[in-house]
Amino acid sequence: MEKLQIAKDLIKRRAIDIVRRKIERLKTPMDMVVLTLKAQKDLPEPLIALELFGGLGLGHTADYEPLCSYLELWEIKPNYAKFAKKLFKTATVKTGDSIKAIKEKKLLRESYNFIVIDNLWGCCNQEYYEHFDLFSAIFDFLGPKKGVLILSVLYNMDEIVLKEGNIPQEATRKIKEFYGINGDKGVINLDAKKVIDIYKNKVPRGKFNITSTFLVPRSSFIAYLVMVIERNG
Ligand SMILES: C[S@@+](CC[C@H](N)C(=O)[O-])C[C@H]1O[C@@H](n2cnc3c(N)ncnc32)[C@H](O)[C@@H]1O
Repeated sequence: MEKLQIAKDLIKRRAIDIVRRKIERLKTPMDMVVLTLKAQKDLPEPLIALELFGGLGLGHTADYEPLCSYLELWEIKPNYAKFAKKLFKTATVKTGDSIKAIKEKKLLRESYNFIVIDNLWGCCNQEYYEHFDLFSAIFDFLGPKKGVLILSVLYNMDEIVLKEGNIPQEATRKIKEFYGINGDKGVINLDAKKVIDIYKNKVPRGKFNITSTFLVPRSSFIAYLVMVIERNG
């Protein structure tokens, strides 16, 4: 099953790369994140990158990997991590639980200037939900002075309901808790503007200053939320 998934993802990525190389106007959502940061003069050079839910790295890591002088990719599934290691020869690929590593301060560097936290929707049966368990701890690793945090976030979840059926009860409970929402309807109606405000309010005040925030949609219900954050003092 994993082998089949790897083969499918590899074919998709090859097709994307051919089109990206041949037609300059066609960009992936991660390309748009990088271009926007560059236009704003907010793209760190070089990138000291951390990818916490790396998978094979074919979804978006491959888009920014050439800009990295250091890339640390965490993936819990050994077969996926093995594949990512083959694909990104100079990257440091760690097989393991990145959320646990953050909580136990076992990441390999003290700070990173480009942190990417992908989505876990529908993926794996595990104790965590999305990035909720690591969000407050990630700021310790952003820096040393300034960094970019890129989170895959869910919004307009009525689209998910239409596509996949009802959102599981446990997911609804965790979303309500993290976003501070009262009724189940609020989970479904969580719009992109509200999501941005909620995350901005969750950045530890006093210690950090958000200098830019923008959203790049990946689909009608998943987007990259990009925050450029500097340390105060
Ligand atoms: C949506 S996929 C990642 C796709 C990838 N970012 C890309 O661009 O191709 C999420 C990945 O996170 C991994 N994962 C789930 N929980 C994890 C954890 N606690 N630590 C590290 N990886 C985890 C899953 O095995 C899965 O491969």
